[in-house]
Amino acid sequence: MSQSVTVIGLGPMGQAMAAAYLDRGYEVTLWNRTPSRADALVARGAKLAETPAQALAANELVILSLIDYDAMYTAFAGAEHALAGRVLVNLSSDVPEKARAAARWVEGLGGTHLTGGVLSPPPGIGSPDMSTFYSGPREAYEKYRADLEVITGQTDYRGEDQGRAALMYQLNMVIFWPAMLAYWQAVALADAHGISASEIAPYASGNYAGMGQFIDFYAPRIDAGNHAGDVDRISMGVASMEHVVHTNADAGVDTAFPQAVLDAFRKGAEAGHGADSFSRLVELIRKGA
Ligand SMILES: NC(=O)c1ccc[n+]([C@@H]2O[C@H](COP(=O)([O-])OP(=O)(O)OC[C@H]3O[C@@H](n4cnc5c(N)ncnc54)[C@H](OP(=O)(O)O)[C@@H]3O)[C@@H](O)[C@H]2O)c1
Repeated sequence: MSQSVTVIGLGPMGQAMAAAYLDRGYEVTLWNRTPSRADALVARGAKLAETPAQALAANELVILSLIDYDAMYTAFAGAEHALAGRVLVNLSSDVPEKARAAARWVEGLGGTHLTGGVLSPPPGIGSPDMSTFYSGPREAYEKYRADLEVITGQTDYRGEDQGRAALMYQLNMVIFWPAMLAYWQAVALADAHGISASEIAPYASGNYAGMGQFIDFYAPRIDAGNHAGDVDRISMGVASMEHVVHTNADAGVDTAFPQAVLDAFRKGAEAGHGADSFSRLVELIRKGA
């Protein structure tokens, strides 16, 4: 354990990470484009560096939590020399190829890059139950593993490919954002009928809690290429989604999101797969059809 760390980027995530390190008694050095975001952490004993170069010079282990990877290049403009010998753990989210390019850039400057993807909102930072994907040099991951477990108690190392942790994070976001949008849609539709978000909350939670059973059922069938329409059929999905679109339209609610789902089901039916399970859509999506 290093017991000393630099945190660069103090949005809600970076602030929570720095606070977690202070909770564990680490010496914490900070830098943020907007210095005032460090005030509460400085009051707790963290040091605020005046420049990114000073923040990098303070510790070998540097945690980066910026909005995206482009912000890293902006933040380190003029401080590139200070990256030599540093281990940059980049917990900013972005696309896999940008993570690979950033790793090459950092390595070219004499530093080490580890890509991370945090599966926790700010209130979960510091929790033993939350998890973060990592990929990049195993040696650096092993060396700092205990320090990284301060951020989330679980770490999930996915190999040397710097893009892999970013990809694993994106796979989760592909599910998370549309799933939440589906919930906002239901809340808006309920609201149009005078039903509150709190009233439908238990039903929405129950719906999401049950999703795991669907994934467990379909995953091995998809891997085996089995899209038999023995449990559900795309033609049934088309009819059901038409009801969803019409129920929203009748209530004067925006239909763009359910319409996109209906369009995907219709594509499956028009491709001749109406009698197949809606898992067949995986193949159509995969082909970009
Ligand atoms: N919030 C979540 O629930 C959550 C969960 C998992 C992962 N993440 C990921 O974690 C990362 C940080 O999230 P956050 O919620 O803390 O985001 P945020 O509020 O957007 O914080 C962004 C940070 O990036 C800095 N920044 C933005 N543009 C910059 C630039 N051009 N140059 C230098 N610094 C710049 C901001 O500085 P200023 O303070 O000066 O604006 C701030 O420190 C993101 O990649 C996000 O996708 C977030």
